[in-house]
Amino acid sequence: MRVLSGMQPSGKLHIGNFFGAMRQHLHLQAENDAFYFIADYHALTSNPSAEDIKQYTIDVALDYLALGLDPEKTVFWKQSDVPEVVELAWLLSCVTPMGLLQRCTSYKDKVAQGISPNHGLFAYPVLQAADILIFDSNLVPVGADQKQHIEVTRDIAQRFNSIYGEILVLPTEHILESVAVVPGVDGRKMSKSYDNTIGIFDTDKEMKKKVMRIVTDSSGVDDPKDPSTCNVLALLKLVASDDELAEWKEKYTAGGMGYGTVKKRLLELLLEYFSPYRQKRDELATDPGYVEQVLKDGAERARAVASVTLDKVRKAVGIGK
Ligand code: ADP
Ligand code: TRP
Repeated sequence: MRVLSGMQPSGKLHIGNFFGAMRQHLHLQAENDAFYFIADYHALTSNPSAEDIKQYTIDVALDYLALGLDPEKTVFWKQSDVPEVVELAWLLSCVTPMGLLQRCTSYKDKVAQGISPNHGLFAYPVLQAADILIFDSNLVPVGADQKQHIEVTRDIAQRFNSIYGEILVLPTEHILESVAVVPGVDGRKMSKSYDNTIGIFDTDKEMKKKVMRIVTDSSGVDDPKDPSTCNVLALLKLVASDDELAEWKEKYTAGGMGYGTVKKRLLELLLEYFSPYRQKRDELATDPGYVEQVLKDGAERARAVASVTLDKVRKAVGIGK
């Protein structure tokens, strides 16, 4: 099965990205034909500086490779090294009803966050559809906030196929409900845009500072606490065993435990989980040539697949040979 996903180089990756999407990407590479890319064209929609986009692209590549992406098995590239997607995005644009894009919530959300309402941001789901459809992807592992974009991709593909014939493969989203929305330290969805993240590769000190900042209610040590609404417990759930989690839930309802105690344990488990990957990342960072080569090889493999679909689509619409 062809599995495909993209990650924007729009900031340091955080544990919401990891548990919501990257961990599934890494698991799925073993048994599937995995295609993962760094979505730099998409990141441009939020107008980063040229330096930032360059740096974050390298960072995302290092993060994936350190966490276990296997470039022998998985095709891994930078989106802009396969410019065929931009042409497909245009061809798809011409069968995409305006109403479909107007209904997309991410555009409104991003404008509400202060990103200038540019055309790229509005047309973003069409480029995402091109990313997915150009590789005949079957499964797209993402976090819950991307569900609508995969639905839009299917709508666009269906519309294209109904006009030009069965050319595009309809993809399905793969969303793990248990980790669909990882909360940030302020209780909102963890996001690079909200300054509420815990970075995958934060130092011990940074992680500690952030864990201690997690917002809790104002109940006193002796008071019983509600495990179902606590942000600390929602994060602990990601790294603790089921047995341990059950014990913490009991402690919550019994009272007599302060939030500081559970935060301390959360920090311990986060450090245990992520610190082994740091050494690998540091090693990779000393060899920029290697990372560059991985992305270059990936782009070659990706282009070979993309150009076949693009040729079919060009022919179907009447502009190809
Ligand atoms: P951000 O909101 O930090 O900018 P992105 O929109 O770049 O993150 O998301 C990259 C991937 O990580 C997507 O598949 C997205 O669904 C997933 N993701 C991001 N934040 C979370 C979160 N808090 N919980 C679960 N998944 C998330
Ligand atoms: N829009 C995705 C995000 O913000 C990134 C992305 C771009 C993507 N193209 C994709 C994800 C194709 C899955 C498939 O996270």
